[in-house]
Amino acid sequence: MREGLAINGGAPVRTNLLPYGHQVIDDVDIHAVIKVLRGEWLTTGPTVEAYERAFADYVSAQHAIAFSSGTAALHAAVSAAGVGAGDEVITTPMTFAATANAALYCGARPVFADVQGDTGNIDPDAVESCMTSKTRAILPVDYAGQPADLDALAAIAERHGVPVIEDAAHALGAKRRRQRVGAISTMTIFSTHPVKHITTGEGGMVTTNDTGLAQRLRAFRNHGITTDARTRGERGDWFYEMVLLGYNYRIPDILCALGLSQLAKLDRWLARRRDIAEWYTMAFQEVPEVRPLTIRPECESAWHLYPILLDTDRLAADRATVFKALRAEGIGVNVHYIPVYWHPYYRDLGYSRGLCPVAERMYEQLLTLPLWAGMTDADAADVIAAVRKVVGVYRRT
Ligand SMILES: Cc1ncc(COP(=O)(O)O)c(C=O)c1O
Repeated sequence: MREGLAINGGAPVRTNLLPYGHQVIDDVDIHAVIKVLRGEWLTTGPTVEAYERAFADYVSAQHAIAFSSGTAALHAAVSAAGVGAGDEVITTPMTFAATANAALYCGARPVFADVQGDTGNIDPDAVESCMTSKTRAILPVDYAGQPADLDALAAIAERHGVPVIEDAAHALGAKRRRQRVGAISTMTIFSTHPVKHITTGEGGMVTTNDTGLAQRLRAFRNHGITTDARTRGERGDWFYEMVLLGYNYRIPDILCALGLSQLAKLDRWLARRRDIAEWYTMAFQEVPEVRPLTIRPECESAWHLYPILLDTDRLAADRATVFKALRAEGIGVNVHYIPVYWHPYYRDLGYSRGLCPVAERMYEQLLTLPLWAGMTDADAADVIAAVRKVVGVYRRT
């Protein structure tokens, strides 16, 4: 039976590789970008402001500050929270390194709290036990698009007098108790990398209801200077002051034109992602070796990713073999994530394996299936067929 697998020379489910994530760009997007290119402002102009306003309105936050990347947005948010040398920031190992790196950029130490094995989100009990007098912020990730347990995290944060900085790079449009993420935590960060829900090529955003933080974030994006060139131009003024050590983390108007155009399509794309995710979940009810993530009843996931947990005890193959077999079938599976502290850079900082056993066990079982708004029904059917085929062949009888 194994000869039927593409990895062993059999016919693949599809011949062109279906990526796990991909942007969707149409002529409206292209014309929006061209219009800015033909205009006066290529950067730090009115389109940045219009994009920020539309984004803030979408998530019902008072302020949205756009950045050149989600990573820059994270750096800015951690810095604006006053995190500095000798401080600790509690975060999750089940994320892209950028989340924890933001603490390192500010001279702080990331403290990894373990996750819940059924959602991949940070476990509030683990967070509580990591709190010390040095803790300056809690930095959860809305893993795969499902909001973390923000009520419990906010309660811990309040008790200890620290902010929650929510990394919602996966969760634009997600809801918790019917409220969109973006105005639930002290600050929320987003990414608009091409695999995310909407794209600006590269880009990020911080949303907040705190006006003081919004001012700090704006200054941080622009070298720590209190005004931008456009404002000075309008005032006919040359004077400016640098009040904190910032960076050039500005995002051009060209990219914000794309973001604004993409934002108009977000709800439709979220619905498409959800439909595909529900289809997968239903199909895998009949594949007991495959366990989708649990979605809590109070949450609506934005379905950035569709990770599955493979019950490797029931398979005559490990995750790496299943990964290779699915790739050979034309399915661009991926793995999100290697626990952050397993990376050599973190190992050299003194973190060791065994720190977060639930995340480590999850990592051994995880596979991310393709999920993006431009996928056709036939694409989704190919994913299901390939998973059934590969798991069926490796199933222990
Ligand atoms: C959870 C998480 N945080 C932060 C980032 C960083 O965002 P960016 O790639 O826009 O810098 C990513 C990007 O993949 C991410 O997945």
